[in-house]
Amino acid sequence: MIPKANSVVSLEENFDWRSATSLTCNAGALPEAQKLQAQLNLPLEVAVQGGIHLELSGTDNPEGYRLEINQNGVQITSSGLAGLFYGVQTLLKSDSRAVQIEDEPRFSWRGSHLDVARHFMPLEFVKTYIDWLAAHKMNVLHLHLTDDQGWRCEIKKYPRLTEIGAWRKQTLVGHGLQELPFVFDNKPHGGYYTQAELRELVQYAQERHVTIVPEIEMPGHATAALAAYPEFGNTGSAPEVGQYWGVFDSVFSPTEATFTFLEDVLSEVLEIFPSQYIHIGGDECPKTEWQHSQVAQDIMKANHLEDEEALQSYFVGRINTFLQSKGRKMIGWDEILEGGLTSGATVMSWRGEAGGIVAAKAGHDVIMTPGTHTYFDHYQTETPDLEPLAIGGCTTLEKVYSYEPIPAELTPLEARHVLGSQCQLWTEYLPTPKDVQRMALPRLCALAEVLWTMPKARDYADFLRRLPAHLEQLN
Ligand code: ACM
Repeated sequence: MIPKANSVVSLEENFDWRSATSLTCNAGALPEAQKLQAQLNLPLEVAVQGGIHLELSGTDNPEGYRLEINQNGVQITSSGLAGLFYGVQTLLKSDSRAVQIEDEPRFSWRGSHLDVARHFMPLEFVKTYIDWLAAHKMNVLHLHLTDDQGWRCEIKKYPRLTEIGAWRKQTLVGHGLQELPFVFDNKPHGGYYTQAELRELVQYAQERHVTIVPEIEMPGHATAALAAYPEFGNTGSAPEVGQYWGVFDSVFSPTEATFTFLEDVLSEVLEIFPSQYIHIGGDECPKTEWQHSQVAQDIMKANHLEDEEALQSYFVGRINTFLQSKGRKMIGWDEILEGGLTSGATVMSWRGEAGGIVAAKAGHDVIMTPGTHTYFDHYQTETPDLEPLAIGGCTTLEKVYSYEPIPAELTPLEARHVLGSQCQLWTEYLPTPKDVQRMALPRLCALAEVLWTMPKARDYADFLRRLPAHLEQLN
């Protein structure tokens, strides 16, 4: 079983739960019992006890559960529907040995980022990906919806975002940055999700206790948006939707018109995604255009901003205020620390752990996403020459398993600000769902156990012994 349950006690009398003839639940547990009914094809009754019984009760961690298999049947109890769902996931991976399992997650943020901007991923695959997360008791899908190379989310008020921004003429072949001149594939690439499709996806995820956190990138990584609406840029001319990778100079201008545009966009995003957290990117924003723009320089002066770092902080702060006014919480990559971190923001620490440490010490919540251990776009073996082309780096299965999300520098009180972690699947070099699968699995299995199972119950050799059967079940 992956992730490994935290406390497992074997009991005497077995019960072959796969040949159970009845399924019961209390009224509160009905939504989860109905899902299990669909899988086991058993009659379902709201009753006190049966062959398999789901009970919503108690006040413990709503993601935790208690599962007992004994001679009388199966009893799954949790104070939350998510906990019942996880108890059912455990049951479905169990044999008929009698056990008593007490289990709950170590971290509340157990996630995966998926970049559908660099390469568009079909809706059906994103659903499959959500299935993988749920099977690993993971609960967040961070959907990277916009970037220089594509805008993937329909916005009704600004149709050109997808008419223009969702399509690029062609894509770089190979690792262009070292191999000048660039070679392109001459094949148009693109796609986007309608709002109806995204709503369907949100519902699909909710049924599996996965929250979709949308990411709309700003002020940088904005080329696709500016190809559609150059008036929100700094140069007065429209860039092309990106055809190669890296960090682009075309960024949003910090004008009132841009803030109105971004707030309009976010308003539609908030309607689609009920997630408490909204990701606004904030990473890798070159300041070149702002340095050369009289408009940007005037805005700096009017707001008493010392430099362009302070302007970025002002930009992010404006968006933070907007999101807070709508009852949401803003997340940004750790560059949002530069020029001053806006109040109440949650930080994703990707350039190592330093940003996360600073933020947690300042009382901000953080999600640890260091490139060293959680970037699954990196090679996964010590022999990258034998792997398909990847962006670089090397993050082996064992390295992922060894990851400790709480930095040693934090006191226990500060460590409470570490909500958890997630893997990053950037798709510059992962053009198809098959490529994403190859890079996600089995490293996702290792990360799931890091995030769910307490350190004292974890052991890499033991994980490797459980992995083949787990992968068989996933198949
Ligand atoms: C990032 O990898 N630019 C967050």
